[in-house]
Amino acid sequence: MQFLDSFKPELTISSPGRINFIGEHTDYNMGYVLPTAIGNKITFKLAKNGSLNKCNVYSIGLAGFSFDLNAIAISDTEWHNYILGVVNEISKLTSKVGGFDCIIESDLPLGSGLSSSAAMECGMAFGLNELFDLRLSKITLVALSQRAEHSYVGTQCGIMDQFASVMSKKGNVILLDCQSLEYQYIPIDIRPYKIIMLNTKVSHNLASSEYNTRKQECEEGVSIMKRRNPKLNSLRDVTEEMLEASKDEMSQTVYNRCSFVIDENKRVLKMVQAFKQHNLESVGNLLYDAHQGISQLYEVSCPESDFLVDFTKTNPSILGARQTGGGFGGCTLNIVHENAVKEFITKASKAYFEKFNIQLEAFEVEPSGGTSVQ
Ligand code: GLA
Repeated sequence: MQFLDSFKPELTISSPGRINFIGEHTDYNMGYVLPTAIGNKITFKLAKNGSLNKCNVYSIGLAGFSFDLNAIAISDTEWHNYILGVVNEISKLTSKVGGFDCIIESDLPLGSGLSSSAAMECGMAFGLNELFDLRLSKITLVALSQRAEHSYVGTQCGIMDQFASVMSKKGNVILLDCQSLEYQYIPIDIRPYKIIMLNTKVSHNLASSEYNTRKQECEEGVSIMKRRNPKLNSLRDVTEEMLEASKDEMSQTVYNRCSFVIDENKRVLKMVQAFKQHNLESVGNLLYDAHQGISQLYEVSCPESDFLVDFTKTNPSILGARQTGGGFGGCTLNIVHENAVKEFITKASKAYFEKFNIQLEAFEVEPSGGTSVQ
């Protein structure tokens, strides 16, 4: 692209991926989540180009594209829609955005359940906010990034990923109530253990797959239970008793989905207590329980993730493991004793390769800060 030859960035933005300790598929059910940003990130270098409407975006590794601010439309290339969706949402709020050039670089593995999509959306939103001095609040940037994902990408996602990408604080996880958007930072100290991510390298496109179906199944459950509980609006307010009372009126699948969400919300609150009490054994057990639900009740796991979680169960140096993120692959999160990390990665990689003929990718992450100007 022509602009690359003479590009001088005015601004560099760092936009991180995230892990979620626990609370999967609870965000769009107005429940609790416990995510944090990680060190892996997408970097945006930005500059105004003096034009009124012409925008050029180049991503190292993915090539580039140009668009006109007056003619923004959904693209056939998926990653363009993260950018276009955000610009479209910002344009609804302000007319202060003008032409800009942007170079994007990422060390966040794409489609690995670490929310590269939210990092892309939030980095773009944060960058334009700074570059054009839009003065939009962080929570506005979070919400418009989520709307961009709904309207331009087509995934009816909850708010967790965008919230974690923007709002995270180093050394903490965020306990977020997705109903009220109230949040608390929970400091975590898991020494002498480490958070080790294993990337299955299996990924599924959530937009065209089961994600939206799960959301609909939860909504179906709510509408059935609403017959007996007219004030009910989301699974957040459903108790086990309410679910049991309506069990005969719903399919086993819908029952299982609702049952998982009720349990998962409880697990989030238990995990917070476990972190506060430094009860790492309980942290690990909750991870295993959550994975069981993800796999058996919510059915968003896959043979590769199940294999890796099972693989850890006989290793006394590992406290717990589960698949993190939207599902159907991506990464498993493992709590591993620092002295056992190397051997665990070697053995897991060997076993995984023998079983699936896929080279595992393993890396350590730490709770990190949210989107920022570098
Ligand atoms: C994806 C979505 C999130 C959340 C998770 C599952 O990452 O973007 O909103 O629903 O899946 O917890």
